[in-house]
Amino acid sequence: MIKLSPSILAADFAELGRSCEAVMAAGADMLHVDVMDGAFVPNISLGVPVLAALAKRVPAFYDVHLMIRRPLQYIKPFCAAGANLLTFHIEAESPVEQTIQAIHDEGCRAALCIKPATPPEAVFPYLDALEMVLVMSVEPGFGGQKFMPAAVEKIAAIRAEAQRRGLSTDIEVDGGIDAATAPLCAAAGANVLVAGSAVFGAKDPAAAMSAIRAACV
Ligand code: DX5
Ligand code: ZN
Repeated sequence: MIKLSPSILAADFAELGRSCEAVMAAGADMLHVDVMDGAFVPNISLGVPVLAALAKRVPAFYDVHLMIRRPLQYIKPFCAAGANLLTFHIEAESPVEQTIQAIHDEGCRAALCIKPATPPEAVFPYLDALEMVLVMSVEPGFGGQKFMPAAVEKIAAIRAEAQRRGLSTDIEVDGGIDAATAPLCAAAGANVLVAGSAVFGAKDPAAAMSAIRAACV
């Protein structure tokens, strides 16, 4: 079963609550919250106070993607603000095992993310401890970029390794996902699809989500 996680980065921030309520009502499985610090990636998006305000107003499963240099320092505040799943980058500067542990200590699910240049094997040492792996299909930092097909093989390699170990790890893909690229990722073993522009940028987000789901069956 495919889960859709619309990225709020593509939403109109002046209407954030209303647009998130609308996509949840239209059948989104979770909300993807992109946190950028202007250091790990060359862009600044939003942080703890925005997540806290949104989570208070819109009941949802919050899938929080930390694109920040020192994730370990911010685990507690993001979990307290309402994150249900916290994803951090293997390329960031925090110790991976300790960061996974800190996320679990807060009662959150933990995911590790790899950028396009990082090989899938990089996550293997941590696979047993993770609820999810996030494979970036664009360079992190901006919405609306073109899907990089090399992500497909990486998804397949991680799915194969998880299956070999008998793990039902979620595999999420993020960047350039729409009705054309989603099926390639789903066929390779991704079961959580992030879509920003394709959902929040669509005139009819409900129809856009249905189209992505229909393309994946
Ligand atoms: C990119 C973000 C993505 C982005 C996806 O750094 O992590 O979540 O919002 O946007 P689209 O779906 O427009 O590529
Ligand atoms: Zn993201």
